[in-house]
Amino acid sequence: MSDTWNPASWRGKTAKHIPEDYPDATALERVEQTLRGMPPLVFAGEARRLKSLLGDVAEGRAFLLQGGDCAESFKEFHADNIRDTFRLILQMAVVLTFAGGKPVVKVGRMAGQFAKPRSSPVEKIGDVELPSYRGDNINGMEFTAEARAPDPERLLKAYAQSSSTLNLLRAFAGGGYADLYNIHRWTLGFVNDSPQGARYRELSEKISEALTFMAAIGVTPDSHPDLHRVEFFTCHEALLLGFEEAMTRVDSTSGDWYDTSAHLLWIGERTRQLDGAHVEFCRGVKNPIGVKVGPTLEPDELLRLIDALSPANEAGRLTLYGRFGHDKIADRLPRLMQATKAGGRNVVWAIDPMHGNTLTAANGYKTRPFDRILSEVKSFVEIAKAEGVHPGGVHLEMTGQNVTECLGGARALTEGDLADRYHTHCDPRLNGEQALELAFLVAEKLKEDRIDMARRVAV
Ligand code: PEP
Ligand code: CO
Repeated sequence: MSDTWNPASWRGKTAKHIPEDYPDATALERVEQTLRGMPPLVFAGEARRLKSLLGDVAEGRAFLLQGGDCAESFKEFHADNIRDTFRLILQMAVVLTFAGGKPVVKVGRMAGQFAKPRSSPVEKIGDVELPSYRGDNINGMEFTAEARAPDPERLLKAYAQSSSTLNLLRAFAGGGYADLYNIHRWTLGFVNDSPQGARYRELSEKISEALTFMAAIGVTPDSHPDLHRVEFFTCHEALLLGFEEAMTRVDSTSGDWYDTSAHLLWIGERTRQLDGAHVEFCRGVKNPIGVKVGPTLEPDELLRLIDALSPANEAGRLTLYGRFGHDKIADRLPRLMQATKAGGRNVVWAIDPMHGNTLTAANGYKTRPFDRILSEVKSFVEIAKAEGVHPGGVHLEMTGQNVTECLGGARALTEGDLADRYHTHCDPRLNGEQALELAFLVAEKLKEDRIDMARRVAV
């Protein structure tokens, strides 16, 4: 790998999953030029702050909660959707913090998660074959030749949508909505009357009591303004490198390059080739970086990937998201964790229990059984514990909406239910109730860990 990096050096490498069939290449260049002149979406100092918090996760002092849509879309863009996913993340974070006794770092797959790698470049319906849908910032979902042609103007629309999404998220995070005193109000309507809703209410009662106690001893929002707000970060897959390059700027404080399209960028399972364009781009920006780690990755290749992306081996720079599948994790993860541990690589180990557990139901819907998702998360925590590694976090596809996309959960959604509210633009997401149920399960595991640790310290 050559040492000369610049925001465009990825162009000299093989770039998988980036469309090459823009009908008008100069129109694309024009749009990228416009984007270069647009204000950054995030500030480099915020990305450094996230890196420092992820450093705490790497060292076992915090837990990462990352989640949101598989693919954001122009159609589902609405303040209510942003608010509902945001408050679901807050609810889950409360559950996890309370049980684990550690801060939870909150990162939304939001405000820029549009572009998708697809297993096939084309889709065939009957006799008609068209390019696959690649995400709303590239082409349209409708099965027509016009919609499926990549349109660079979509990048500008995606930028605008990301910008207003981020604006609302910042307002929610800092403007009083996320005030811990509002904890009762974060419950989503449809979750209210579920077993998860009842469990959450019980927990929020306990937290309210604790807040009353703290106020009595002088810890109030006036003395501790942090009780009024949360830190919230954004992330997306760094797939469409022309867009990422256009958003990459030198930070005037540090003189370093930052991709200002999101706080954290990750490299997907299909684009993590050591000599590929995506690794080349990500190695040069100073944002915290993630990499998906699937069942085919061998330990020696993982170590080389880590060294390419995190040569200074700083805690917080690199997060690995295992995504093996419930039936493969026990076979694949231990040796990878052993390699990073024995090799002294400072990484966050997290789990994406979604992408290894996708199947197609008999009625044609792409879905994920909730029990397999839970099973992969449980195995992750147990394997990490056995290997002496901190189970650092979860990366989920989820929404605050009451969708019917994943099977099972407390309401035991069946294949027959999928058609009711199947709204995703790509992969099936956990609905609010399922996501909260998963948070309670992880919380129980974290609590066991905390109690074990306290016992070990006591003897
Ligand atoms: C995703 O996170 O939406 C995704 C495509 O994941 P992976 O790269 O792990 O398949
Ligand atoms: Co997905």
